[in-house]
Amino acid sequence: MGRAAENAECTASPSLALTKYWGKVDGGANIPATSSLAVTLRELSSTTRVERSGGTDMVLIDGVPQSESRFAPVFEAIRAETGSTEHFLVESSNNFPTAAGLASSSSGIAALVCAVNALLGSELPAWKLSRIARVGSGSAARAVFGGFTALPAGGTEAQPVHDANHWPELRVVVAVLQSGPKAVSSREAMERVRRTSPYFAPWMETAEELFAEAREALSIRDLERLGHAMRLSYLRMFSTMFAADPPVLYWQSRSLAVIHACEDLRREGVPAYETMDAGPQIKVLTTNDHVERVRAALATEAEQVLVSGVGEGPRVAEKTGVEP
Ligand code: PMV
Repeated sequence: MGRAAENAECTASPSLALTKYWGKVDGGANIPATSSLAVTLRELSSTTRVERSGGTDMVLIDGVPQSESRFAPVFEAIRAETGSTEHFLVESSNNFPTAAGLASSSSGIAALVCAVNALLGSELPAWKLSRIARVGSGSAARAVFGGFTALPAGGTEAQPVHDANHWPELRVVVAVLQSGPKAVSSREAMERVRRTSPYFAPWMETAEELFAEAREALSIRDLERLGHAMRLSYLRMFSTMFAADPPVLYWQSRSLAVIHACEDLRREGVPAYETMDAGPQIKVLTTNDHVERVRAALATEAEQVLVSGVGEGPRVAEKTGVEP
C-alpha cells in the first residue's frame, strides 16, 4: 500500500480497435467473444479527477451527471480488489466528442480506474487495473496500456503488444461526421446482435483469423496487410448489425462518402485504410507523409478532422499526497 491522497487526476487516451471486439461471452461478466487488436490515440484524451465522497459514487462527464448503474460495476470491482469501502466523486472531461463512437468510454474508464488507484495508494499492477476497467467497457481494458494492445476472446484483461514507439510514422486521421451522442449504446447493440443477428455466429468464427492476420501485419508494420484485415473486421462487424432485428444503423450517408473517398485515395496510391466503431465517424490509418492528402479528402464531408499518432498509457498527472 502506498500513500493515500486527497485527490488524484489521470489523463488517458482512447483505444481504437484495428480488429474489433464485438459480442460478449455469456455470463454477464463483460468478457469479449472476439479478440481485438488496438492502437492508443495520442492526441485524444480524457482527463479524470477523483476524490472521496459521502455514501454514493457520482460521475460527471463534461459536467453532466451520469447514470449510477453505468459505472456501478466498476466501483464495485475497485472496492472488491482494493478492500476499500469508500465512495468517489469523479469529474471527467474529453478533448474530443463524448459517446459518439470515438471510444470515449475506453479512455474515460481507464483514467477513472487509474486515478482511483492513485487516490487510494493501492498500487495495483496494470493487468489488475485492466481487469477492473473491462467490467465497465471492453475497450477500457485496452486503454490501461499504451501503444498497441490486444484483448483476447474469453480474456479478462488486455495485454500490451508493442509500445508507442513501434510505428512512429503511423497516423490515424479521424473524420468526425456527427458529434452528438449515439442513439444506441455499443452494449445494447452487441446484445441485440447476439440475440437476433443470423450473422453473429459466422462473425465470431472468422474474427480470430482476422485478428491473427492483423497482429502479424502490425508486427512487421505492413500497412497494406493491416489495412486489409482491418477493413474486413469492421465491415463484417457492421454486417452483424445490419442483419439484426431491429437493425442497428450507425452509418450516415457521409460515412459511406468517406469510405468511398478512402477507396479513391488507395486507387491513387495513397495508403488510407478506414475503420468505424459504434457511431458514424471514420478513422483512417495512414502514414505521416500522407496525412495532408487524407485530411483534405475527408475535410469536405467532416464537421471536424483530428489527426493522431500512437499514444502512451494513462498518466497520473496530479496527486496531492497526505499520509493516511
Ligand atoms: O468497449 P465498448 O463496450 O464500448 O465496446 C467497444 C466496441 C467497439 O468500439 C465497436 C469495438 C472495439 O473493440 O473497441
